[in-house]
Amino acid sequence: MEQTFIAVKPDGVQRGLVGETVRRFEQKGFKLVAMKMVQASSAHLEEHYKDLKEKPFFSGLCTYMASGPVVAMVWEGSGVVAMGRMLLGETKPQDSLPGTLRGDFCINVGRNIVHGSDSVESAKREIALWFKREEIVTWKSCTHDWLYE
Ligand code: GTP
Ligand code: MG
Repeated sequence: MEQTFIAVKPDGVQRGLVGETVRRFEQKGFKLVAMKMVQASSAHLEEHYKDLKEKPFFSGLCTYMASGPVVAMVWEGSGVVAMGRMLLGETKPQDSLPGTLRGDFCINVGRNIVHGSDSVESAKREIALWFKREEIVTWKSCTHDWLYE
């Protein structure tokens, strides 16, 4: 089954939005298979965001992401990468509709509260970067047969 990497960023943690983020993914029907609080190092974040290395905001982004703990998660479900991005909203909060996490809870692109993998390939890379294999739990949710035909 498809998996995605979702993280509540330091601003989201500080603002008490961990529960809200988890609630939205749970209520959609996705299955939580890993979760931990992490104070990420600059080196780890530079690796995580390596595709953005040339961007002018890269160093500010890594400083922001290292400014406090993040809550890192792996969510599982059919289409979870694309639908997870829909739950988050657009990169820029001003383009994010109400009903999305970024549309409802933030204002500034540099403080946009949550991260989500942008493709199945990125999700695989990010999950392997943030989690050990044994930290990802295989379990059957009792709601499975009510979510999938
Ligand atoms: P992530 O889920 O965090 O990866 O966001 P994204 O996939 O919607 O956007 P992208 O990967 O292009 O950028 C990663 C992060 O860099 C964004 O979530 C923002 O926090 C930050 N970022 C992107 N564009 C800008 C920008 O123009 N200015 C600033 N200050 N930050 C930006
Ligand atoms: Mg991204």
